[in-house]
Amino acid sequence: MSRSFVLTTLTAVMVIVGGQSLTAETSDPTEDTPTYNGAVGQLLLENCAACHRPNQIGPMSLLTYKDARRWARTIKAKVEGREMPPWFADPRFGHFANDLSLSEQDIATIVEWVDGGAPEGEGAPPEPPTFSDDGWTHPSGRDPDFIYELPIEWHTEADGESPNFNLFTPLPFDKEVLIEATEIRPGNFAATHHIVTNVMNVPAGMKIGTGPAWPGGPVVDYALVRDPDYEPDQDSDAGNSDLGPGGSLGAYIPGRGAVLTAEGQRLSIRGDQFNMVAWNLHYQATGQPESARPQIGIWFAKDDEGTTQEPPMVLQEYISKGVQLIAPPPLSAAERRAAAQGRQAGQNLNPLLDPIPANDGDWTVTGIGAVQNDSWIQSLLVHAHLRGKDFTFVLTRPDGTEEIMLRVPNYSFDWQFEYELSEPTFAPAGSTIKMIARYDNSRANRHNPAPHREVYWSEQSWDDMFLTTVQYTEAEGDNRPRTDGTR
Ligand code: HEC
Repeated sequence: MSRSFVLTTLTAVMVIVGGQSLTAETSDPTEDTPTYNGAVGQLLLENCAACHRPNQIGPMSLLTYKDARRWARTIKAKVEGREMPPWFADPRFGHFANDLSLSEQDIATIVEWVDGGAPEGEGAPPEPPTFSDDGWTHPSGRDPDFIYELPIEWHTEADGESPNFNLFTPLPFDKEVLIEATEIRPGNFAATHHIVTNVMNVPAGMKIGTGPAWPGGPVVDYALVRDPDYEPDQDSDAGNSDLGPGGSLGAYIPGRGAVLTAEGQRLSIRGDQFNMVAWNLHYQATGQPESARPQIGIWFAKDDEGTTQEPPMVLQEYISKGVQLIAPPPLSAAERRAAAQGRQAGQNLNPLLDPIPANDGDWTVTGIGAVQNDSWIQSLLVHAHLRGKDFTFVLTRPDGTEEIMLRVPNYSFDWQFEYELSEPTFAPAGSTIKMIARYDNSRANRHNPAPHREVYWSEQSWDDMFLTTVQYTEAEGDNRPRTDGTR
């Protein structure tokens, strides 16, 4: 979200309107109270309206004085408690281009406005930005060059928990394409928890067919099903179903619009090497039946624009060897047979690692990645489920100096941000990055569905995951990536 600045000091209240100074008529005790038309309205429009407007994820609209007036007390509580806008990085560590948080001064302005009776003030109300509900958000205003829509409309129930599941569709490219930006539009903001896309191959032993979207779930035409004719080749690694070896066409989380590659960088999607898009979809019940048909908008890179650099790479955590550090659930007899015959798609079959113990409020998992060559670190992502408590990323340089790159002290499953560094951090060859996650499997965690159970790895939110990524570009000449803050 762009964070262009508004004058938020008290002087904003005393501007000359229609040739008259407001100060002349405000001799009562609320003379210093900020007003909606003066400063507060603009603040709310810039920092809240992207989510708080019709057909968006915010539960109410905050586009007018009337809206804001009605919600003033709650706005004060949420803003003072740093719960709104949603943002989870500890401000003491790192600066992030997609930081949604308000400055201390903006918070003070809103609090003073509410305490002063939430006055409307003189003058014209600030103009709400023009949002088009099916508008794409590339900063140039251009529509995507290519739109890829999920071939089916998804339907959700009015209540209950919606599972997190994967649908697979053919990759719409058969050669390499270079991409400048992507945006995922969920098709239904209220009902969508998140969408992540990954480009991959149909794993060996599987094919796309008709099957249940999840155990016991509805049958869809885009399920990965076991290929009965498959003969596993023990020597070949071709079927390795690691998520997204072909990159990603983007993700949707609440509040995220178009994501641009850094200047000078292009995302390469190898349609000549990969054949499938995996859509990881998570919906949420809204109290009424909903339907959604997500779209991927793609803006191609212009080939005449300088040299194409590789897209950022993802640091491998060597301790975990790419394996989730939380144990997957023990296999059923049928699953053991299936595993012996071939590979299970998208599932991790190493049952040897430790699960999170029952009732443990402070279970720590650490992954370490080694930086092989001089690199520019660009973004950090954390993902856990309902037991996730906090995350810390520590960069240790070869000279022993350490830097906390990101700390998320109160991880929230509902808000999964990719933390995009405002300026890339230089990590010399030989540095390591430690990614430390703590889990709270005790009763003190009010989101915990079952503190008395030990917790295994799975995609389901009642199990848990340890998933962190570090995106980086290897340093070469003057290829320092820049982020422009418009993401
Ligand atoms: C990225 C999207 C997003 C942004 C930006 C955002 N909100 Fe929200 N807001 C939500 C969502 C979603 C909820 C409901 C779920 C929750 O509370 O997390 C919410 C809830 C709230 C609530 C509680 C409503 C209730 O029913 O009690 C208030 C008040 C609020 N927001 C105010 C604000 C204000 C003020 C701003 C800007 C300074 C803001 N929000 C920015 C998404 C957003």
